[in-house]
Amino acid sequence: MQLSTKHLLGIRDLSPQDIRIILDTATQFKEVLQRPIKKVPSLRDVTIVNLFYENSTRTRISFELAEKRLSADTINFTSSGSSVSKGETLLDTVNNILSMKVDMVVMRHSASGAPHFLSRHIPAVIVNAGDGINEHPTQALLDALSIQEKLGSLEGRRVAIIGDIMHSRVALSNIHLLKKMGAEVMVAGPPTLIPKHIKAAFDIKVEHDVKKALAWCEVANVLRIQLERQNQVLFSSLREYNLAYGITRKLLDGLDHEVLIMHPGPINRGVELDSDVADSGQSIILDQVENGVAVRMAVLYLLSGKRDNT
Ligand code: CP
Repeated sequence: MQLSTKHLLGIRDLSPQDIRIILDTATQFKEVLQRPIKKVPSLRDVTIVNLFYENSTRTRISFELAEKRLSADTINFTSSGSSVSKGETLLDTVNNILSMKVDMVVMRHSASGAPHFLSRHIPAVIVNAGDGINEHPTQALLDALSIQEKLGSLEGRRVAIIGDIMHSRVALSNIHLLKKMGAEVMVAGPPTLIPKHIKAAFDIKVEHDVKKALAWCEVANVLRIQLERQNQVLFSSLREYNLAYGITRKLLDGLDHEVLIMHPGPINRGVELDSDVADSGQSIILDQVENGVAVRMAVLYLLSGKRDNT
């Protein structure tokens, strides 16, 4: 099975068939990861650079582990400690790395569109590991795999994405994916953190009362308040955000059904999500992280066939 794209820049570019292929392949790789020897030789002749211009824990470790499980050669680049601080441009940095015969680039950058820019200027396969407030496609794919595993399907599922929608690449990738796969989507949070156009642009529900959002949904994907991306005051204080929009045990106990709790991490405990919810049996946050490795193995494996020299 072949993907329709050479790069993974965003879920926006994928067809439902592409998404299905990636999730099915990830499910097969999950079986590999249960074996005593968790390694396959699929990418033995492939060299991948992980180019991280912005902080990351889960995504960076997960991509690196996925590459090792596929037997690829990997190089890790972080902008801190590199010649970026001496003024080297993104394109110069990447062309220098590519001259060392790199096949694929996994890239995280604080600027929206940075991986798209690279894909227009270099011949390597590009995988977006999160660009600014645009997209985080592998996060949405691992979220989808996690929902599918717990609920059996994506089609018709009611998923509420709760929190800072305005600054979230995770929200945008999830909305694209869930809509393409036939799920019902709601975004919920304070009016100042939800873009005005979003309801019409995506044909989704918008709710400002978190209690009502939880009463509607089967899955609550709770997002971090992204203070590093906010250059103006969008809510009064973290304490008041927690009181009005935080997901608490009391809120969940008041429902007539159990809601699956997700979070892409890192969690602001006691702000968007209380610890007794994050660490409870209805939270699948660590399942999401586990699924990240299989999903990234699938993406890298499927896109490795798109290299110019293959
Ligand atoms: N979910 C996510 O992207 O986490 P990191 O920023 O730690 O990679």
